[in-house]
Amino acid sequence: MSILKNRFQYKKYTIDKKLCYFKPHATKIEKSFSEEIIFGLSLKNKMVQPKFFYDIQGSDLFDKICALSEYYLTRTEIEILNNIREELTITLDSGYRLVELGSGSATKTRIILDVLNKIQSKIEYFPIDISEILTESSEILLDSYSNLYITGIIDTYEGGLRFIEEYDDKKNLIIFLGSSLGNFAEDDAIHFLKQINMTMKRSDLFLIGLDLVKDKKILDKAYDDSQGITSQFNLNVLQRINDDLGGNFDLNKFEHHAFYNQELQRIEMYLKSKSDQLVHISKTNTDVKFNKNELIHTEYSHKYTVPQIKKMMNQCNFKINNMWFDSNQYYCVLLVSKF
Ligand code: AVI
Repeated sequence: MSILKNRFQYKKYTIDKKLCYFKPHATKIEKSFSEEIIFGLSLKNKMVQPKFFYDIQGSDLFDKICALSEYYLTRTEIEILNNIREELTITLDSGYRLVELGSGSATKTRIILDVLNKIQSKIEYFPIDISEILTESSEILLDSYSNLYITGIIDTYEGGLRFIEEYDDKKNLIIFLGSSLGNFAEDDAIHFLKQINMTMKRSDLFLIGLDLVKDKKILDKAYDDSQGITSQFNLNVLQRINDDLGGNFDLNKFEHHAFYNQELQRIEMYLKSKSDQLVHISKTNTDVKFNKNELIHTEYSHKYTVPQIKKMMNQCNFKINNMWFDSNQYYCVLLVSKF
């Protein structure tokens, strides 16, 4: 079955009465991957967008990052979410559907599903993720919750949000965890928050987790871990170009380079070419030349102060209902609604 949503065709895949997915027709995703990669590698300052990290292998490596002791973000956010279960149970009512931007780690989603499970006889969950991993995690969740109904949207966040906006009038609890907002450039983060705000109804709620500014040593280690998992995660995007676009990147000729830029309050992540080299991408018939030490920018991960967060939310038309922290003040979770 095909349906038309926000100008693009989505195909509906029904697995059973509790699980279905919507996915834009393949050409939309494939075209944007090759076009954006070739565009990014043709720039004077080469770049690959971080959304392309998350193929099956990349999502798997990201799960491994989340379990690293140096990567404090995940366990700290889980700690906060566990601490606020009761408050969320009181705030939410039986009318909320859960919409998740990025299908996220099962642990975090489960905390929110557990809260909804206490107050709802039927839970509706709409995960939005660019990666097909969404399909795997959904099936695992369904085994744990007998009253769960999942409608996955395999698309960009923007596409998924427009899809939800046009879907029906039900109240949404939108969650955007893991400090993924930090991966947007500053202006894009504001633009994205405004976009979320505009797709929300007055009764909708938005729960967001954000990483806070802290000691540079802690941040450097979180993004350049001792086991080299973040390095594999970063390099995997070159493997993806090899696999999907017929590239001949030699992963041994690039290295992971990540550090916290204190002035700009962000982790900067790059792949550094270890030598002068030429890479051919056969599907697009493109040659890309690299000089020794030349960088491909792959990710920013912005860190925020509390006043900056308050200002940003205000600027994007959000009223802060609650703001919670962990005991070290490393991280915060906010519940906001439309002004
Ligand atoms: C998904 N995102 C919030 C992670 C972060 O911390 O910026 C991605 C990541 N990159 C390296 N390690 C983790």
